[in-house]
Amino acid sequence: MSGADGIPLARPELGRREEELVLEVLRSGRLSLGPVQERFERAFAGWLGVADAVAVSSGTAALHLGVRRLGWGEGDEVVTSPFSFVASANCLLYEGARPVFADIDPVTLNLDPQAAADAVGERTAGLLPVHIFGYPAAMPELNELAERHGLGILEDACQAPGAVDADGVRVGARGNLACFAFYANKQLTTGEGGVLVPRSAEEAALVRSERNQGRALDMDWLDHDRLGFNYRMTELQAALGVAQVERADELLARRARVAELYTEALAELGGVQAAPGADLDGLVLPCADRGSERRSWFVYPVRLPRDADRDAVIADLAERGVAAKAYLPCIHLMPHYRERFGFRSGEFPVAEEVAERSLALPFFPAMTEEQVARVTEALAEALAGSWT
Ligand SMILES: Cc1ncc(COP(=O)(O)O)c(C=O)c1O
Repeated sequence: MSGADGIPLARPELGRREEELVLEVLRSGRLSLGPVQERFERAFAGWLGVADAVAVSSGTAALHLGVRRLGWGEGDEVVTSPFSFVASANCLLYEGARPVFADIDPVTLNLDPQAAADAVGERTAGLLPVHIFGYPAAMPELNELAERHGLGILEDACQAPGAVDADGVRVGARGNLACFAFYANKQLTTGEGGVLVPRSAEEAALVRSERNQGRALDMDWLDHDRLGFNYRMTELQAALGVAQVERADELLARRARVAELYTEALAELGGVQAAPGADLDGLVLPCADRGSERRSWFVYPVRLPRDADRDAVIADLAERGVAAKAYLPCIHLMPHYRERFGFRSGEFPVAEEVAERSLALPFFPAMTEEQVARVTEALAEALAGSWT
């Protein structure tokens, strides 16, 4: 991306409160295994509306510990989305379980419940839905599917803090194990970090032990009674998290406002919000909220018109000082997955078509109307010069 006034893809919102709380930790001299981690856990759980939340070092760590809690391992298959960040499938490989991909809904871009049902077989142990781009997955249908077959569920809500599902329930608060992530581009950030929402107090205690090398809360230093990991969140990360949770609703509202500006501006370019029956051949914008479903805005991904050359558009935008990224590639087509499981192009046509066309535009809470207009204008010009 060029020029000092270039528009970045993402930018965290960090202010005086974040500085104040991080400084407090620095001055306390206690950088890990201290009281701020617990304070963050209580604040996040309270904001989400759940009994407890276990802080860990990343969203991936939260997913891994969730997989272990569900007992998924060798010989188990777990139905999940191929249209996600690679961590939601990698966490299964860590324990020897096998991801079984099912295609996505072309409107919400989440796991299609019918495709998920069709993918359930004798070895299926669970479902791992991802709330992609902050839009809630079809949890009522997926929970019903899991109940019918006696399957466990791990929700990947890493992109969706504050989203609400079709039953009006906050994502992560349905009673399933659920994971959140706080990398620097996320709605709430701790630099790196994550949370696992446990289903019971016993489960919370086990997860707290596993994140700390298998040491139970009442055990002494260097006593460990089970296999564990170093998945601890530092006090510095937790301090950032406390400040971010304090203004979570404001941060989410500002993101939603930027999304609204984009939707209005891009509609003038002929962009159409994804919807059942809508023409999905041209410039497609993220779907609007339906019924009780509420998106938590994480990124603003568009699908370029079918005949546009995405690489040329990205290069042209970069020359105009606008960062944009092909987002997301399908997991099953990544070299490791192709080589290990023999996946080929064409197996999940909806996900593959979306992945080939989608592009994330600059998106962060402090974006101004002028910046949104500049991105939109640059996109119009880049598209005009990019037909294949
Ligand atoms: C859908 C999804 N799952 C999992 C993760 C992993 O989170 P982390 O990068 O904190 O390990 C991410 C992070 O981008 C994500 O977007």
